[in-house]
Amino acid sequence: MCRHLAYLGDPVSIGSLVLDPPHSLAEQAWRPRRQVHGTMNVEGFGIGWYADGDPIPARYRREGPIWADESLPDIARVTRTRALVAAVRSASAGTESGAAAAAPYAEGKWLFSHNGKLMGWAAAAGAEMAWPAVPDDAATCQADAGPAGPDPDAAAVRRLAEQLSAAELLQLRSHCDTALIWALVVKRLRAGEPPAQALSGTVADVRAAGGTGRLNLLLTDGSVIAATAAGDSLCYREVPAGVVVASEPYDDEQDWQEVPQESVLEATTAGVAVRPLSSPIAIGREEMPAMTTVQIDRRLPERFFEASLRADVLAGLKATPKSLPPKWFYDERGSELFDKITRLDEYYPTRAERSILAERAAEIARLTGADTLVELGAGTADKTTLLLDALRDHGTLAEYVPVDVSESALVTGAERMLARYAGLTVQAVLSDFTEHLGLPESGGRRLVAFLGSTIGNLLPAERAGFLAGLRNRLREGDSLLLGTDLVKDPAVLVAAYDDAAGVTADFNKNMLSVLNAELGGNFDLDQFEHAALWNPDAEWIEMRLRSTADQVVELAAMSLTIPFAAGEEMRTEISAKVRRAGIAAELAAAGLAMRHWWTDERGRFGLSLSVLA
Ligand code: SAH
Ligand code: AVI
Repeated sequence: MCRHLAYLGDPVSIGSLVLDPPHSLAEQAWRPRRQVHGTMNVEGFGIGWYADGDPIPARYRREGPIWADESLPDIARVTRTRALVAAVRSASAGTESGAAAAAPYAEGKWLFSHNGKLMGWAAAAGAEMAWPAVPDDAATCQADAGPAGPDPDAAAVRRLAEQLSAAELLQLRSHCDTALIWALVVKRLRAGEPPAQALSGTVADVRAAGGTGRLNLLLTDGSVIAATAAGDSLCYREVPAGVVVASEPYDDEQDWQEVPQESVLEATTAGVAVRPLSSPIAIGREEMPAMTTVQIDRRLPERFFEASLRADVLAGLKATPKSLPPKWFYDERGSELFDKITRLDEYYPTRAERSILAERAAEIARLTGADTLVELGAGTADKTTLLLDALRDHGTLAEYVPVDVSESALVTGAERMLARYAGLTVQAVLSDFTEHLGLPESGGRRLVAFLGSTIGNLLPAERAGFLAGLRNRLREGDSLLLGTDLVKDPAVLVAAYDDAAGVTADFNKNMLSVLNAELGGNFDLDQFEHAALWNPDAEWIEMRLRSTADQVVELAAMSLTIPFAAGEEMRTEISAKVRRAGIAAELAAAGLAMRHWWTDERGRFGLSLSVLA
């Protein structure tokens, strides 16, 4: 009943995942080793993958066995990707066998696959029996053969279909059970549910409707994989370059982990979390019991967007030259685009900092003995598991406090940590860290991590004020772990902020979308172009948006018009690069003593550990 696989990580060829391994999907199509039901997966196959700079995946799907496709070996050999879903299909009785029924299914950035069968679908759909029943389906196929009578499975399928609107039913792309399940998942994704919750919620929906069957679901958006183990086999493997989630191991290596039945898995390149399907993530966020709900301490000032954004607009867009602070990049899409940037070839800082953390996290845990990790500008907290793992292994970890102005990123990161670390208190703080640091009074020794070189996005005076404010809130025994990008060849720096795929350009222009959404603006994003320049005197990268025409933009909510001349530039971000002596001096001026300094192998990024001077 199908085999599927998903990958996230460094770029690899599609073939290296799908065709080359000794027990690849090509072999699993006719000789699966762990499949619970059925032995042949030859009705169709599909591969969906993401290209850098484009959030919408491409798909290649065909009817028939994967090994019989003439074109696939060449395509798979030369196409490289950081994220894919691939599947080989065994069609259930009564379902169509064409390419449209082959996974992955797609909607926007999402790719989806189903390994299993929803019992009663054919009867409910009035589908003719196409083949003799395979043994495990015999009872159902009896029922499937006739019109939908008293068959309880068929009644359950009808109840599920009734949860979809006429428009949603008309949008089903294929006549099969997977298309119905996918529509239920899509409904949840459109409502804003995170991927693991959308899958476990759908399994819960099927069961609540009285439905039965095997519901191994697999979903990715290119940055996170969610999967359920509900009736068939599922495993995963973490490799240095990424993570693979698959119906069964594609080779004989020992590092594959079996996912227990009735589980939901969530994987990113930072780690894998597995929890019971029946755990509260399967229900709506408001219904989650306190134990697993992310507690958000909301510290943004009243009417933050209205008041602060308006103030920044008045100060920044009425001035010459125009500028806005970079915190306005980070609505949900901005946070997603930043995550995409961190995976670009040109954007080395995240990889460089991760490599330092991987090497030094245990030492940092030993040196700080921290029980509380406070992370400023945590974002989706991809690298943070390295620190949390080390503090846990050191035996001191009790609380994690991510602080961020972006609620979507904050919740994504905090939920992952809740799932990954049993017993960890997670207290998320929604705050502008230049106004409120979010340091809890509780805890013995607090480690404040400010990673990613986000400090470089503050202007020098803001940086000094920020460090002094932080120093005043720290106690004896606390430490500051500060990530800072280092001065280097301007060509390398400019490329990191002006990538070939244009993701940074989209990130930069996203600030205009935020202004449009929050202040009723009419910025035309096509009338601005992205610019990244190295300022050798200030030693910072400056991101700007350049108006390509004389134009007047309106911000209706503020009754404001802003003229832009052709070629006029608005600064949206500085990203300061530092030298060891310079940052040590800045820390010292704020009353902090740098005790340790580590860089990556290539000397691109610095991580310092400081205490009260
Ligand atoms: N720490 C992560 C994310 C860096 S992106 C990493 O190292 O990869 C910068 C993060 O800081 C974003 O999530 C953004 O929302 C947050 N941020 C930017 N300005 C902020 C501010 N003034 N207050 C709080 N968070 C802020
Ligand atoms: C979050 N911050 C440290 C990033 C940086 O590199 O300055 C933001 C960014 N801007 C463009 N690319 C990434």
